[in-house]
Amino acid sequence: MYKKLQRIELLIIDLAEKNQCFGRLDDGMSVFVQGTVAVGDRVEAEIIKIKKQYLVARLTRILTPAETRTDPICSYFGTCGGCKWQHMQYSEQLRLKQKQVQDALHHIGGCKDIICEPCIAAQNTFNYRNKVDFSFTDLRYLTEEEMAQPEDQLSKPVDFALGFHAPGRFAKAIDIDHCHLATPAMNQILNLVRSFCLEHKDELPIYSTRTHTGELRNLVIRHSGHTHELMVNLVTTSHQANLMKLLRDRLLAEIGTELTTFVNSTTSAKNTVAFGEKEFVMHGNGSITDRLGTYTYQISPNSFFQTNTAQAEVLYQQILNAAQLKPTDTVYDLFCGTGSITLFASTHCHKVLGIEWVESSVKDAQANAELNNVKNCQFIQLDMKALQSIESECALFGAPDVVITDPPRAGMHPKAIEILREWAPPIIIYVSCNPASLARDSALLCENQQYRLINCTPVDLFPQTNHVESIARFERL
Ligand SMILES: C[S@@+](CC[C@H](N)C(=O)[O-])C[C@H]1O[C@@H](n2cnc3c(N)ncnc32)[C@H](O)[C@@H]1O
Repeated sequence: MYKKLQRIELLIIDLAEKNQCFGRLDDGMSVFVQGTVAVGDRVEAEIIKIKKQYLVARLTRILTPAETRTDPICSYFGTCGGCKWQHMQYSEQLRLKQKQVQDALHHIGGCKDIICEPCIAAQNTFNYRNKVDFSFTDLRYLTEEEMAQPEDQLSKPVDFALGFHAPGRFAKAIDIDHCHLATPAMNQILNLVRSFCLEHKDELPIYSTRTHTGELRNLVIRHSGHTHELMVNLVTTSHQANLMKLLRDRLLAEIGTELTTFVNSTTSAKNTVAFGEKEFVMHGNGSITDRLGTYTYQISPNSFFQTNTAQAEVLYQQILNAAQLKPTDTVYDLFCGTGSITLFASTHCHKVLGIEWVESSVKDAQANAELNNVKNCQFIQLDMKALQSIESECALFGAPDVVITDPPRAGMHPKAIEILREWAPPIIIYVSCNPASLARDSALLCENQQYRLINCTPVDLFPQTNHVESIARFERL
């Protein structure tokens, strides 16, 4: 009989859902362990939940560390939700990413025979992000040591934070002054903006998700991987012109000409998503450019662009390898964002139709085709749920020989899958940033043996995190 708070010892043998790890007791009982654990660790844990088939326990002590452990370099590791895997050697991260995709395809997708390719490694495992999205909150996340101290002895205010949310704590953020995934210039801007906002705390109060009052919401910084252009996008509730001019002058004085553009986006939304309804361009032209392969891309504040430039080039090359396009092929690029995959595909096929719902992304995609003198691409702004509504446009464009689909984390809407199955293109290349939704959608595509999953290659765009991209090739049977 197990008891709550009882201490148990076990070997961690696998990852499990919800960021837990898995092991078994000598009697065969399954245990899900919460805490920063690595596969191969022998741990002591305290039981917090008892079910018939399994126990949930909280890590209390590492008894013997796994050989694949390494020392995290970040002082926020363990608290910040960003880099959950910094305590694992990179080769182990890659092994687990491959396994994660394969397990999902086997268990959720029912694709029992598939053996995923090894996960393609990134060259840079730190400082690789070209975009970082910091949140403002009026509830700073306090460490256990800080909680034990009287408030007036804390080195930072409790009602101001600019950084990342602690896992599962959407109202609270850790006040961060250095992120190892960001570039040095991004970290410098983070600290400049923090100082400015603290100096103007009364005029620029932090937006509260509880009362829906206040101004400061997000700080989004983009630093293009190849061109080194810098965009600062401060998201607020309203546009305070004089303060934004002061901030612009401060940023220009400290950062200099490397700061290509500064935008103040405003939103009235009652959420914390960094998506501006209006944009006030305070410096530059409101967008930056970056390069992927031989293509140049214009990127606006609200537009999607892969956050790891170097690995996006690897990803896109793998997409082309998987698609094996022919010069006669008509290709559809669903969820095309700023047209990055569309342009990559355009040189290898007859023509490409890109579909995307964010207006600024579609405009960027059109501008990018022009900028790169690409003449065989067209773009349509549409919510993918409504694919059926553009039947006549699709008929005019021509039936697809290959569909490339790159949905957000949630995967494809069932209605979009239904239409895809009606179109029945011979080849579908599914690019996914979430193994679980890839696996769910694989099962739908393969229903009644309409498609077969041929291969799947995971690509690591997010070292130190548990996220992974994968490219799956489906062929119509
Ligand atoms: C993972 S990104 C892929 C972007 C692009 N393929 C690339 O590699 O840069 C997903 C894209 O889907 C778009 N999107 C999300 N939901 C959508 C929907 N319901 N209909 C159409 N596009 C959507 C997002 O705006 C984003 O640009």
